[in-house]
Amino acid sequence: MSSRPIAQARFPHVATANPTPAAQRDGLLADPGFGRVFTDHVATATWTAGEGWHDTAVRAAEPLTLHPAAAVLHYAQEIFEGLKAYRQPDGSVALFRPDLNAARFAHSARRLALPVLPAESFVEAVTALVRADEAWVPEPPASLYLRPFTVATEAFLGVRPAEEARFLVTASPAGPLFAGREAGVTLWISDTLSRAAPGGTGDAKCGGNYAAGLAAQALAKEHACDQVLFLDAREHRWLEESGTMNVLLVTADGELVTPPLGTILDGVTRRSVLELAAGHGLTAVERPISVEELRAGCADGSITEVFATGTAAVISPIVAFRSTAGDVVVGDGTPGERTLALHAELLDIQFGRVPDTRGWRLSV
Ligand code: COI
Repeated sequence: MSSRPIAQARFPHVATANPTPAAQRDGLLADPGFGRVFTDHVATATWTAGEGWHDTAVRAAEPLTLHPAAAVLHYAQEIFEGLKAYRQPDGSVALFRPDLNAARFAHSARRLALPVLPAESFVEAVTALVRADEAWVPEPPASLYLRPFTVATEAFLGVRPAEEARFLVTASPAGPLFAGREAGVTLWISDTLSRAAPGGTGDAKCGGNYAAGLAAQALAKEHACDQVLFLDAREHRWLEESGTMNVLLVTADGELVTPPLGTILDGVTRRSVLELAAGHGLTAVERPISVEELRAGCADGSITEVFATGTAAVISPIVAFRSTAGDVVVGDGTPGERTLALHAELLDIQFGRVPDTRGWRLSV
């Protein structure tokens, strides 16, 4: 796989001939929901085994043309990322820790045998798109969700790493992932369907992981839950992650505990919250957590709060779990104090309402 930097490390802006009229755009920005409104442009680059990365640009967002034999359509050779651009109090726009997304994207590319896009090109593509579609960045509390992805485009039905791929970034003004669920979400503990196994793709951000989680998510819905909580594939005993989020527990003795990396996604929000923990009087601990510990801890009060993290989900309080073994309520069934404080601090950093003492914001 070539990781040669893009020759002219630039994404020149070729403006769309059909921009969305401002009044229509403002109407869409008033209530964007999550993942259903898209901006006028995409950032894009093409990769071939012979030429490496080339043909970089920010251009009109149009439907893709793919040969029916394109490898991604058959073997799911695909990776993606999720990050956001936030409107700042002075009207400027900032990204949150895009270097971490760039590094994870490279990790996912290696695991899925796709070409690695150099980190500086990743950040440049995202930045160039946000600049081109700056008018689409909503006012807080909404933000502009960015979805970089690489797909194997080579038309070839033999099974091997594709020799042609395309990188794109699409942008979507976004409100909350769990609209109307600010009072907390309920998770279905999946004791049969697994998300990932050791040596698999659980720590890569690839579409296949999410496709494999959909049946469990449907099961969660059948049980009136908002999302699923996956357990490990070997013993169906150890907490892993939720369908689209990492999971963290607050204990009565002041720990912020979360499952270790390995088969779960190395979430940017997860990592940021672990780094903020000390400021909230919490000791961050990454260790295996069994479902028995979760149940017993919620029942006897040694686990006081549970929440989930993700770029889309931000910090979502988890107020209850359901499973074939019965229901469990966390604390008094409302969002916990530490959860709300971490949520407020994270948003203050992302939206530029407090000084960026850690260098987490990148001005666009
Ligand atoms: C994100 O939080 O960025 C994700 O990728 C979750 C998404 C699948 C909604």
